[in-house]
Amino acid sequence: MKQLEIDFAGIRFKNPFLLSSAPPTMDARHIVRAAKLGWGGAVIKTVAETPTVDPRTRLGALRKGPDLIGMNNIELISRASLETWTDDWLPKIKKEAPEDFVIVASIMSDPAPEGWTSLAKKMTNAGVDAIELNVSCPHGSPERHMGAAIGQNADLVETVTRGAKKGTNLPVMVKLTPNVTDMVPIAEAAVNGGADALAAINTVESLVGIDVETATPHPIAYGADPKEQLSTYGGFCGPAIRPIGLRFVSQIARAFPKIPISGIGGIEDWRSATEYLMAGAKTLQVCTAAMWYGFGIIKGMTSDLSSFMDRKGYSTLEEIVGKALPKIITWEALSKLSPVVAEVSSDLCTACKKCVVACADGGYVAIQIRDGTATVNPEKCDGCGLCAIVCDDNAVQFVHTS
Ligand SMILES: Cc1cc2nc3c(=O)[nH]c(=O)nc-3n(C[C@H](O)[C@H](O)[C@H](O)COP(=O)(O)O)c2cc1C
Repeated sequence: MKQLEIDFAGIRFKNPFLLSSAPPTMDARHIVRAAKLGWGGAVIKTVAETPTVDPRTRLGALRKGPDLIGMNNIELISRASLETWTDDWLPKIKKEAPEDFVIVASIMSDPAPEGWTSLAKKMTNAGVDAIELNVSCPHGSPERHMGAAIGQNADLVETVTRGAKKGTNLPVMVKLTPNVTDMVPIAEAAVNGGADALAAINTVESLVGIDVETATPHPIAYGADPKEQLSTYGGFCGPAIRPIGLRFVSQIARAFPKIPISGIGGIEDWRSATEYLMAGAKTLQVCTAAMWYGFGIIKGMTSDLSSFMDRKGYSTLEEIVGKALPKIITWEALSKLSPVVAEVSSDLCTACKKCVVACADGGYVAIQIRDGTATVNPEKCDGCGLCAIVCDDNAVQFVHTS
């Protein structure tokens, strides 16, 4: 599928999909298997000078009924040593994965630049194609002055980026944290430090839920005594964080139009992938969807994205990248646009009354069922859009009043 090829910071990807740094990239075996299934690349599980330990369990879920919406984790970085990666796993991946498979090394160190220089050098010597700086893990790492503790401080981000650049000639990508009010100054610091690319977002700090029977927050970490069930704040991911990812990616894409961005956060199919491309991402990283549904999702994502491109007449991904950005304008300008009201199609409406109830209690009491169709009173309708949100039948459209 030639049309899915894309250049990212001077690296040619056969398709824009990478596994992000997480359990799916925990070792060579996983990565080689994903590579053979057609992924464009993988970011290895973050590696530091000292490997880590993890609580068990360490994953929690947010559900609506039986459906998974989001996931929270309190896992840290690679439990394997730096040497296992550089001397054993990375050479194995290079040897066994298809030649056009891109390997990105994710590294983490403390705020001193020397550690970043050293890790970047060691990973470069091990034959990777690019380096990603993890300055964004929101749990566990900040207590050690790493992860988001660096990524929330523009000066430190610039310092460590400069440090990593000193150790490598490869493209350096800085993975940013959404746990900030404004990502743009942090991204600017990364760019000033020499970043060739940005990646966003890492997980959103959260408390995913509480087991009300035992008053224990999820995920539950079990101690030696069965009664010892404890938890901590973790990183939220999956479809529920997509709106946050799209916000940050679009904001940094607008601020730095020449810097390539790798979009992350709730990408699970061709549509969510396309949303990130349109928000300004050039490559797309996937974690939760690969954990929930397996590496095989790459087949559907690539073929469905390709079909979408054919349907819409796009011949390259570049034509899609940033396509939605000109449509993001100020609230002030939006409020001056001429008003619209809802209109319901009698062909599509099933008279389920969902819009009637929503409009009565959450809106402007503008909808009644008449002759088997939801009918909008244009005098009362305020054009808020609530009826379209609750409609399962796609029966609502908006028309100008004049
Ligand atoms: C269990 C777990 C472990 C993770 N470990 C790392 C890590 O070591 N380094 C890193 O940069 N991001 C890590 N992440 C974050 C993911 O790479 C990704 O940024 C995040 O999950 C959002 O993408 P998603 O919505 O596709 O999951 C981890 C995520 C999960 C769920």
